[in-house]
Amino acid sequence: MTQNLKPLKIAGVGYCVPETVVTNDDLTKLYDTSDEWIYSRTGIKERHLVSGNEGAVDLGEKAAKQALEKSKINPENVDLIIAASSAPPKLYPAIACQIQDRLGIPNHVPAFDITAACSGLIYGLSIAKAYISSGMYKTILIVATDNNSRLLDWEDRSTSILFGDGAGAMVVTESDDGVDDIIAIDIKADGTLGNLIELPLSGQNCPLVEPCENHKQYIVMNGKEVYKFVARVLPQYVEDLISNADMKAEDIDYLIPHQANLRIIHAVQERLGYSDDKVVTNIKYYGNTSAASIPIALAEGVEKGNVKLGSTAILCGFGAGMTWGGAIVRLREGIC
Ligand code: ACO
Repeated sequence: MTQNLKPLKIAGVGYCVPETVVTNDDLTKLYDTSDEWIYSRTGIKERHLVSGNEGAVDLGEKAAKQALEKSKINPENVDLIIAASSAPPKLYPAIACQIQDRLGIPNHVPAFDITAACSGLIYGLSIAKAYISSGMYKTILIVATDNNSRLLDWEDRSTSILFGDGAGAMVVTESDDGVDDIIAIDIKADGTLGNLIELPLSGQNCPLVEPCENHKQYIVMNGKEVYKFVARVLPQYVEDLISNADMKAEDIDYLIPHQANLRIIHAVQERLGYSDDKVVTNIKYYGNTSAASIPIALAEGVEKGNVKLGSTAILCGFGAGMTWGGAIVRLREGIC
């Protein structure tokens, strides 16, 4: 029996970054480092960081509003909210529930968060694809929002140079013209590599059982091993994603990768044989904004004229878990 799978349309994309900018030179006030060291190893010059009470929910709310506006869909017509975050302000209530409240999305609509670190947007898109294909939901808001700066050890120069804060959002719907904007999508995880990037939650045993030492809640990363793993796996993975879709690299207009390290992006670019104008990078100005980095790169790329809509793109990301994933997508006119 053939299944009648429904096609998915990417209807709107939005993004938001905080106003405050911290440069590499600013970081030299915190520890022994230099703009030259950071830029040459990562491609990062500056990052946007939250201030005051601003946080992942505020950023996510703004990105979601923009994505809804672009999609011309009213909040009351959203029927599922998925939020992806590796740096939420609270474990619960879910960011998705808080955004539901802020945007006035009807209070019976399901809303949940996923944890796939920097692969969160691709994981969210893949869940949305399954729900829309099956006909279970018609309009899904995906919000990827990260407030890494509050979960960094600002004395650790090997992690705190890397991250920035920001949010990206996508509205996806059942396509009304029969065209599926997801040409291919795939997600992967390898839990044996869980110790490469961790964010332990602090906590303590019941004092009646056995007291334990309370530890700090910081992102802890073995940067060298993450780098080696991703540089080995990601280029081949992206190449396989394209060939499994019966496509060639030259059939696709843009590479819009997770912005974690410019050298990793260049390794994927080289494998695909892409010229610089086909590769969207903004890590220089935003650092690694985790799950938000792909939608920020897409929407900001369109805003700056670096990405022309009516095109196709490969999205790919990786993060703690280790998780990774990729999608080949159609970018319709007017989505951002
Ligand atoms: N400034 C100056 N020196 C530094 C700094 C700094 N900010 N940080 C580290 N160093 C020093 C180290 O102490 C070390 O000195 P030593 O040789 O005297 O011991 C030296 O520089 C080399 O340190 P490494 O850690 O080996 O540096 P490396 O070349 O590996 O670069 C980096 C570090 C930039 C973090 C790199 O490993 C990297 O980008 N890895 C990938 C990280 C990544 O993509 N993470 C994704 C996270 S996604 C998520 O899900 C959260």
